[in-house]
Amino acid sequence: MLVACWSAKGGSGTTVVAATLALQLARHDANGAVLADLAGDAPAVLGVPEPASPGLAGWLSAGADVPADALARIEVEAAPGLGLLPRGPGALDPGRAGVLAALLDRSPRAAVVDCGRVGDPVVAAVVARARQSLLVTRPCYVALRRASQSPLRPTGIVVVNEPGRVLSADDISGVVDAPVVATVEVDPAVARLVDAGLLAGRLPRSLSPLRDVA
Ligand SMILES: Nc1ncnc2c1ncn2[C@@H]1O[C@H](COP(=O)(O)OP(=O)(O)OP(=O)(O)O)[C@@H](O)[C@H]1O
Ligand SMILES: [Mg+2]
Repeated sequence: MLVACWSAKGGSGTTVVAATLALQLARHDANGAVLADLAGDAPAVLGVPEPASPGLAGWLSAGADVPADALARIEVEAAPGLGLLPRGPGALDPGRAGVLAALLDRSPRAAVVDCGRVGDPVVAAVVARARQSLLVTRPCYVALRRASQSPLRPTGIVVVNEPGRVLSADDISGVVDAPVVATVEVDPAVARLVDAGLLAGRLPRSLSPLRDVA
């Protein structure tokens, strides 16, 4: 099962949502889960030392002769039951993005991909093959307008809600033309844990609306 998380505007909370979904799946699925990081911030958010491996960028640019176990070789353990495929340095070569998506989708473990912001062809290929394509957004009209103009279609929307915003779930659904599947309130405890790289150790209750999303 492949779940792609993406945003139309930076700083929406995509990495936090993707990491949370992956941590929840890892806890509740006997097979564990994997988080594939196309955006590059997952090690920092999960408190994993920046891996020295070539990462997904290296795997994507290695061509079709790459050994069958090459993905497993770049994986690091981020939490009990949760493997992390770090982004690694360099550009993302779109040539084998479809192969990557198919491998993640066919894996016995649930795979969550932190796609970051839309616009990269690798992200488009991964989102196109995902069982769930989750737009992560603040209730912000500028971000929603960009999402509605994007060629990527979400199957669901995760709203990271800030105090004082006036757009309702119905408004958001209407602009993007997809259902709101979860709303997470902005919580200073989340920001503190992210800044300290401690999210993997303790998921605050404010993130529990994500439990049934993936
Ligand atoms: N639920 C939340 N409550 C409080 N702060 C949050 C929450 N989700 C994310 N943040 C904070 O917002 C900032 C951006 O979050 P995050 O890195 O997940 O966004 P992003 O969409 O992945 O950003 P980028 O576009 O740079 O990849 C971080 O400082 C993070 O700590
Ligand atoms: Mg991010």
